[in-house]
Amino acid sequence: MMGFACSHRKMNFLIVFLSFSFFLSCCSFSEAQKVPAMYVFGDSLVDVGNNDHIDSIIRADFPHNGVDYPGRKATGRFSNGNNSADFIAEKVGLPTPPPYLSDKNNVFLKGVSFASGGAGILNSTNNGVISKALHLSDQVRLFSTVQQKLVNQLGAAAAKQQLSKSPFLILIGSNDLINYFNSDSKHPKTTPPQQFVDQMIATLKPYLQQLHGLGARKFVIPAVPAIGCMPLLRHQHPNKTGECLDGANYWANKYNQGLQSMLQSLKSSLNDFNYSYFDTYNYLLTIIQNPSTYGFKEVKAACCGLGRLNAEIPCTPISIYCSNRSDYIFWDRYHPTEAAASVLASAVFSGSKQYANPVNLNQLISL
Ligand SMILES: *[C@@H]1O[C@H](CO)[C@@H](O)[C@H](O)[C@H]1NC(C)=O
Ligand SMILES: *[C@@H]1O[C@H](CO)[C@@H](O)[C@H](O)[C@H]1NC(C)=O
Ligand SMILES: *[C@@H]1O[C@H](CO)[C@@H](O)[C@H](O)[C@H]1NC(C)=O
Ligand SMILES: *[C@@H]1O[C@H](CO)[C@@H](O)[C@H](O)[C@H]1NC(C)=O
Ligand SMILES: *[C@@H]1O[C@H](CO)[C@@H](O)[C@H](O)[C@H]1NC(C)=O
Repeated sequence: MMGFACSHRKMNFLIVFLSFSFFLSCCSFSEAQKVPAMYVFGDSLVDVGNNDHIDSIIRADFPHNGVDYPGRKATGRFSNGNNSADFIAEKVGLPTPPPYLSDKNNVFLKGVSFASGGAGILNSTNNGVISKALHLSDQVRLFSTVQQKLVNQLGAAAAKQQLSKSPFLILIGSNDLINYFNSDSKHPKTTPPQQFVDQMIATLKPYLQQLHGLGARKFVIPAVPAIGCMPLLRHQHPNKTGECLDGANYWANKYNQGLQSMLQSLKSSLNDFNYSYFDTYNYLLTIIQNPSTYGFKEVKAACCGLGRLNAEIPCTPISIYCSNRSDYIFWDRYHPTEAAASVLASAVFSGSKQYANPVNLNQLISL
């Protein structure tokens, strides 16, 4: 009896040891897959190439974008390298969800991205003849076709199960506000800011309800950043000091407050609606105020562009770009560098309750 018990234990040990070594050898170079899929909605902060397939001037498929991407490839990411969508996908152990428009007939079993540079919550944001984007309304509509394909392929129950466990990353709102506060905008004269911000929230809410209706259960919704501190708006400061534009920050903050109350109200009215709100606004300000803590040196100027703060002219092939990219928070006049995107993504995934509320992405996954 004793002999048997002992060898049995040895065998258990061997099995544990073998599976442990298998785990090490199979997964030591990337995070283990923690969720079945990830679905991404939003704007250029997370676009991984949808706009390459749209007839729009809002695109990033040319140098110097991608200068730090493998092969110096300009993939359509508005970044010198990877963006926050890439780093968040890496954290949850998935390949970056591919752009929907790159392969419309795919079922996208591990997720897909509808994010599109220039996209807003409002249809009216970047709705010009040449400045087009997939707006949130388009993105949600396209998701419903993917959901249908998933149901057809996996069956209703398995599709429902897959969607309920997958994070839905929705990063949008900056473009609506930037267009509103851009110095050549006609908005402030026609709509008061409080009304504009309320309209953004009121428009976003039914899209979240629709996604929930289609099976989404775990929402990751970062706040709008302190847009007044983007090089584009800093350079528009009337006193030419390069300080953050307080008005834009004030209303970004107001929007974020409204977003948080809206999320709380959805949580109390919808079944199994869980979310992680990330306070990008204050996290970015913290980085700007303590750059060296996060490995940065330049908090105001864009790396790529021309003119004051490299923010007067966008990042194009004729613009200059800095050599010390990881010292900069901003790649171009709107977008973070790869280094800053990585710092932000880590905080979305495992940030403290001060920034990630009521839970961070890692906790949301294990709910
Ligand atoms: C960016 O993404 C590509 C493709 O996944 C990867 O090969 C590369 O290592 C990533 N770069 C960084 C700095 O994470
Ligand atoms: C936005 O556009 C979509 C499709 O074109 C339309 O269905 C929707 O009603 C519009 N939303 C608003 C708030 O106008
Ligand atoms: C610009 O500077 C003036 C004088 O110092 C000050 O009164 C004003 O508030 C400043 N404007 C802004 C937008 O900071
Ligand atoms: C999500 O939240 C609801 C309460 O709103 C809760 O009942 C549910 O168990 C939570 N977890 C998951 C995985 O849906
Ligand atoms: C980046 O490098 C350039 C020259 O190589 C230098 O002038 C600049 O001060 C550096 N910027 C930072 C933020 O270190």
